[in-house]
Amino acid sequence: MNAIVQHHKLVARAVKFDFSNSPVQWIPNDPVCSHLINGINLILPAGEFWFCRVYNKTLPYIHHPVLIDDVKGFIRQEATHARAHQSAQEFLIQHGYDLDPALKKINWIFGVLLGESPLGIKALELKPLEHFWLVTRVGVVAAIEHFTGALGQWCMDNKSWDKADPVIADMFRWHLAEEVEHRSVAFDLFKEMMPNKVFFYLYRQFLMLLVFPIFIYVLADVGRKLGKQDPDQAVQKIANRTLVGLLSKYHRQAKQTDNGPTLTFLLKTTVRWLSPKFHPETEGNTQQALDYLARSPAVQMLSK
Ligand SMILES: [Fe+2]
Ligand SMILES: [Fe+2]
Repeated sequence: MNAIVQHHKLVARAVKFDFSNSPVQWIPNDPVCSHLINGINLILPAGEFWFCRVYNKTLPYIHHPVLIDDVKGFIRQEATHARAHQSAQEFLIQHGYDLDPALKKINWIFGVLLGESPLGIKALELKPLEHFWLVTRVGVVAAIEHFTGALGQWCMDNKSWDKADPVIADMFRWHLAEEVEHRSVAFDLFKEMMPNKVFFYLYRQFLMLLVFPIFIYVLADVGRKLGKQDPDQAVQKIANRTLVGLLSKYHRQAKQTDNGPTLTFLLKTTVRWLSPKFHPETEGNTQQALDYLARSPAVQMLSK
């Protein structure tokens, strides 16, 4: 378990973001990437608080004290991320965006579909199905965290956001730096809770098969809902395309500008998960993430 060999203590850094001078279209001349990435503000609070609820339930099943410490650090970081993105939701509401239709869908995914008794299936609350359902959700978190870790490294290497709104860019960079920092925790926890190597490999592939298309669909759908509310009619027109049309427009834009990760990048990230030797440790550079966290304006503001 690499996280244990090279143990790094996870701390949740206090942050505060003042969006009063930030525009909704925070990447200049790029409404497509701006709205799609803004959509992440709607997904994360519900998703990351759900991570915390699931992870709190796993603590009695973890035997290794270092992993317990990692999981507790992970919970504290994810709760801080969720609160920061809640403040970004307020910012979008202040700019006249109606978030309710998208939030309704997202809350259903994390509250009902992935809740304690999904779709009212009470049987999953009974032992031993309860344990199976907990391990399944831990696996879903691991699959999602594969993307947040890889996107984190993409963000650490990115230069194009240097010309974007500094507060919003810092919010995503701070968050994604911590995603790089804790990128191995979810995988290690899933492995700990599923000790049979063959089942672990097969189940993590099965879960990725579900997570990848849902992840892409939700990102595009939420981004589109925001784009449709843009005051600029030309942007509304792009948002009114089919999801496939919107995604291909996004892909071309991201490829041209590097303002967002391309779909090819996401696909290659998914393919790396297929390897039986895969471990998130090789997906990112912890020192590079720590270097960003040391100079992040939001982190510095509150640590002084
Ligand atoms: Fe996070
Ligand atoms: Fe995370």
